[in-house]
Amino acid sequence: MKEHCGECHMQDSNEGGVNLEDYQDLDKIRQHASTWEQIRGVIRADAMPPPDTTKLKVADREKLAAWVQSALHEVDCGCAMPAPKVTLRRLNQVEYDNTVCDLLGVELTPSKAIGFVSDDVGNGFDNQGEVLSLPPIMLEKYLQAAAFISKVVIETDRERLRKQRFEGEPLRFSEEQIIPLYIAAGKYNLSVRMRFGDKQPDNCKVRIAVDGNSIADLDIPSKDDTYKVDFSVEKGEHRLTIEYFDDSDPDKRNEPNRKLMIDSVRLSGPENGEPAYPKHHEAVVISSPEQKDTPESLPIGLPEASRRVFKQLLPKAYRRPVTPDELQAVVAVCEKATEAGFSYEESIRFGLQAVLVSPSFLFRTEKTEQGDSLDEFAIATRLSYFLWSTMPDETLFSIAQSGKLRQPEELKKQIARMLESPRADALMKGFFGQWLGLRNLAKIEVDREKFKGWNDRLQRAMVKETELFCMHLLRNGSIDEIVDASFTFLNPRMAEFYSVPFEGRDAAEMYQRTSGRSGGSERRQGLYNDEEKWIRVDLQNDRKGLLTHASVLALTSNPTRTSPVKRGKWILENILGDPPPSAPPSVPSLDAAEHQNDASLRERLEIHRGNPSCAGCHKLMDPIGLGLENFDVIGRWRERDGKSVIDAKGQLVDGRTFEGPAELVALLATKKPQITLNFATRMLTYALGRGLQRQDKCDIDRIVEQANQNSRSIRSIVEAIVLSDAFLQKTNLSPSGKVTDAR
Ligand code: HEC
Ligand code: HEC
Repeated sequence: MKEHCGECHMQDSNEGGVNLEDYQDLDKIRQHASTWEQIRGVIRADAMPPPDTTKLKVADREKLAAWVQSALHEVDCGCAMPAPKVTLRRLNQVEYDNTVCDLLGVELTPSKAIGFVSDDVGNGFDNQGEVLSLPPIMLEKYLQAAAFISKVVIETDRERLRKQRFEGEPLRFSEEQIIPLYIAAGKYNLSVRMRFGDKQPDNCKVRIAVDGNSIADLDIPSKDDTYKVDFSVEKGEHRLTIEYFDDSDPDKRNEPNRKLMIDSVRLSGPENGEPAYPKHHEAVVISSPEQKDTPESLPIGLPEASRRVFKQLLPKAYRRPVTPDELQAVVAVCEKATEAGFSYEESIRFGLQAVLVSPSFLFRTEKTEQGDSLDEFAIATRLSYFLWSTMPDETLFSIAQSGKLRQPEELKKQIARMLESPRADALMKGFFGQWLGLRNLAKIEVDREKFKGWNDRLQRAMVKETELFCMHLLRNGSIDEIVDASFTFLNPRMAEFYSVPFEGRDAAEMYQRTSGRSGGSERRQGLYNDEEKWIRVDLQNDRKGLLTHASVLALTSNPTRTSPVKRGKWILENILGDPPPSAPPSVPSLDAAEHQNDASLRERLEIHRGNPSCAGCHKLMDPIGLGLENFDVIGRWRERDGKSVIDAKGQLVDGRTFEGPAELVALLATKKPQITLNFATRMLTYALGRGLQRQDKCDIDRIVEQANQNSRSIRSIVEAIVLSDAFLQKTNLSPSGKVTDAR
């Protein structure tokens, strides 16, 4: 390096801010890994030394790049190494919302209701300990959220619950409105305000039923009126239904203006006795001070009642067994509140607030056992935040309690169960959404004049397509399908967009043309028949795998034109895990050049690649992107771009040539080992919540090996991650003793 770089990067010269003499030993180099990744990058890409000055031969470049690579990543997996620790991290917004809902059985998004500040992103994800700190403003938000949540969950005014009101819905013939109730035993008065259509001369028949048993069959005329019915029930969950079940003129019953218009539904009761608390209240407030353990004993009193409440809640909230002191601390809050004159329910509210701002709730604290490895509850918590972005459920808690969760077979069983659950949606959105950048698709700008087909429904459908595909990958898919799946998931809108039939029908015919403004149909802003129906569809040759999803293609475009550079960079970085060195400052933009000549985008890019100081980096990226030029800014197939016919020929840096997207994808598909490695690296980062370090290399190797033995299934990667030393925080005791290369 002295010979080839020294002139400009040693002693007094530090061009580009790089002075090689700052790095006298391996430790220094490793401390500045990102600079050295950049150094390796510019050497590989022929970008340094500057092309006109260089005498550095190809073989020497490779040697030098390989040396930097191994200096940065080489590690002896035979040595016993404690797994790196994860920085103590707080729940991010998604995790916080999910945890509150699961802990307290309510449907809330406190992060939106209170307006949390958005979480920082580190290592590509928003669940990383290094960046999830607790700024003062966030502490204030947590206090507000705790007050808000405890008000929703704990009811302090029982009388208020004696009267309930529900919004009515318009019903067509044979439809019913269902109102779920959770009420005390007793007699209730129901009053329903409704009418039949507009100015109908006759009546419709309406049945009001509780748990399927009719309590009133009524003839409802066109005039608004209030109908009163009484009924009695036992305590618990009931189903109140109002059904338009018959019509005095059966021939007319499907006419659009013959609808039962329910205005409002009011319920009051019970006539005697106290109304029931809501379910989520009862689930928390499991005992009261007046309660007696036996008919003869004295009431248990307030401190004991609140102790019982929090004895049940606290281990769930802290996601581990709690100490008597921890319990007493919360009970003391309740006692202080009653001393100050608050009611029992109000004091429970204060106690709950204290729990919700406790570090043990807000942070994912992890207890370790002998040998520094995680205890069973910490494993349950890691597993559940990894796969579900929420707290462990009853099953996980009880397996952790029994001490069996550490067993590999048990862990695999749980992973299978958890991936099947709808909650695995959180992993799809959290991991795939951030890895692929799908979250950004809502923000991209497309020139709507130039691309008339673009609208919000299309954009959401694109995201949905990719989400369904990723969900499939998680449950049954493999790495191979990421690049060359010959199927995808479409609704009629996407089927028309991709020009494929939908269940044998022409998808274009399924668009519900509105008679309104002209031009409206080209925009396709209205709905399709079966808009919400998504089916698995086989695709023709040119669309294969994730890289040709419209979402990904749109994500990597500029508003008015495609950017082969961006598309190429995206694939190198996100799919192959081999990003090009970052762009030097101040290169002329393609758009500025656009007006000066009418060369095609390909020709303009070729001019750049002809320039030796640009070629190194751009020959890595541009050809890949140019291979996808048949897809326009929004990912629609095209044969021409303006005046020029699309020419999707190209050559990868390894010399292999291709023509068109299908051949390009086939070439990329030969890089499956690299794609698997990158996927495992990203997913491990997400699972751990920290940036990977040198010794994680050993785990990565094992994860990739596991995947290869299991046809590279995504599930085998998830399993290998959960069983890794890094995830279980175990000291590596692999007997291999071999020194492995970095990537
Ligand atoms: C003839 C002078 C010269 C030689 C020789 C040279 N460089 Fe550079 N280097 C520069 C200049 C000038 C810059 C800043 C220009 C820029 O940012 O585009 C630079 C910038 C860099 C950067 C920072 C790039 C960035 O985008 O941040 C790295 C890394 C680098 N050089 C590495 C090397 C390595 C490694 C070698 C030897 C293999 C080398 N250079 C040889 C002149 C040289
Ligand atoms: C060290 C690597 C490197 C070198 C050398 C380099 N580029 Fe780039 N260039 C990039 C990267 C990476 C991007 C993509 C930036 C992004 O994320 O949008 C880029 C983007 C561009 C773009 C924008 C493409 C678009 O679609 O908007 C143009 C134009 C460009 N480079 C021209 C040049 C020219 C001209 C040179 C030579 C003078 C050059 N580049 C040298 C790495 C490089």
